[in-house]
Amino acid sequence: MRLIVVNIGTLVCDRRGRMRLAGWEMSQLDIIENAYLLVEDGTVAVFGKMDELPGDGVGADETVDARGGTVLPSWCDPHTHIVYAGSREGEFVDKIRGLSYAEIARRGGGILNSADLLHTLSEDELYRQSMPRVREIMAKGTGCVEIKSGYGLNTADELKMLHVIRRIKESVPMHVSATFLGAHAVGRNFSKEQYVELLVNEMIPEVGRERLAEFIDVFCDEGFFTPDDTERILEAGAKWGMRPKIHADELAASGGVEVAVRHRALSVDHLERITDAEIELLRTSATIPTGLPGTSFFLNMPYAPLRKMIDAGCAVAVASDYNPGSTPSGDMKFAVSLACIKMRLLPAEAINAATINAACAMGQSGDYGSIAPGKRANFYITKPLPSVDFIPYAYTTPIISRAYIGGRKV
Ligand code: NIG
Ligand code: FE
Repeated sequence: MRLIVVNIGTLVCDRRGRMRLAGWEMSQLDIIENAYLLVEDGTVAVFGKMDELPGDGVGADETVDARGGTVLPSWCDPHTHIVYAGSREGEFVDKIRGLSYAEIARRGGGILNSADLLHTLSEDELYRQSMPRVREIMAKGTGCVEIKSGYGLNTADELKMLHVIRRIKESVPMHVSATFLGAHAVGRNFSKEQYVELLVNEMIPEVGRERLAEFIDVFCDEGFFTPDDTERILEAGAKWGMRPKIHADELAASGGVEVAVRHRALSVDHLERITDAEIELLRTSATIPTGLPGTSFFLNMPYAPLRKMIDAGCAVAVASDYNPGSTPSGDMKFAVSLACIKMRLLPAEAINAATINAACAMGQSGDYGSIAPGKRANFYITKPLPSVDFIPYAYTTPIISRAYIGGRKV
């Protein structure tokens, strides 16, 4: 099956085969004006200038006219909790009335509320509730996503979540990576020590045996798990080949960055309270610092200093953090706008953070995150735009006229 997109006003592509972009490189976008893009069997075959197209065509089965629109690589979202039960707008109102996220958690709300609700649902019902969110993000241009467990907080319910993630993976064209986040909070009726034992001795081996998760995550933060707990949990996950992706420095400088770097985590995420020493540590590591601007927006918290990290030479990513408590949105275009408006990233930096570097934060930049020969044909076509900078600037304007995943229209 050969699909050709013609009359592309601006094609945002990658002719250098980069796996991630660091520091100043993040401000560069590889652009071809007046371009075509040829897709073969779901993979990017070739692209170039319209006037380089052979006169007799390329024998495509389907031709799409972009009518001067821009073509960009699909968003990659390397941090979501999109599988959850119900919603938590009650806490939203509590926060408006003055309670903080940490206070709600201390009172036994927050993540534990979602766990109580999830406990009452069957696997089928949880899948049914999660799928509209999955479809929504695909329609909004996401083509590769990471989904975490972490609202089960006991063995059966964590497995239920991971089974739902596996069903999503099998039922959508988008790439889905699964992360085991049993260490999201201490489950009800356990002491912290008991719960860490349960994670290490029961949950992780079960998840490992069923091969339900590629990655392992820990909420390493004040009031949740310490760096020592994190270390133990990551070591247990490593025995089953699960690579770390860590939540750190959201509520306080937690020590999570150091643990993440030492354990060669793919990413360390949140970082609203990161220190300069931790930025220095990340600069020379392979771990991708991942900012979640939607979380700071929704919780009225400080934003992670991604500007400072890029200036220091880091390769940073941006993710949505789609979840019911701190970010009930998986809109990556809005996350990119916030990265520009609130974190002072240039549009090109924010787009690279949400595509190629985001793919790298999932270990997927060989196949996703840019339009390059041999990669999956995940892209979207916009209406004609005045420039690429218009995308984050017009922060609520829908821009997508057609989204494609694996060369097929979503
Ligand atoms: O990444 N910070 C920890 N976990 C989620 C929030 C989960 C929730 O409140 O339900 C986050 O923001
Ligand atoms: Fe999160």
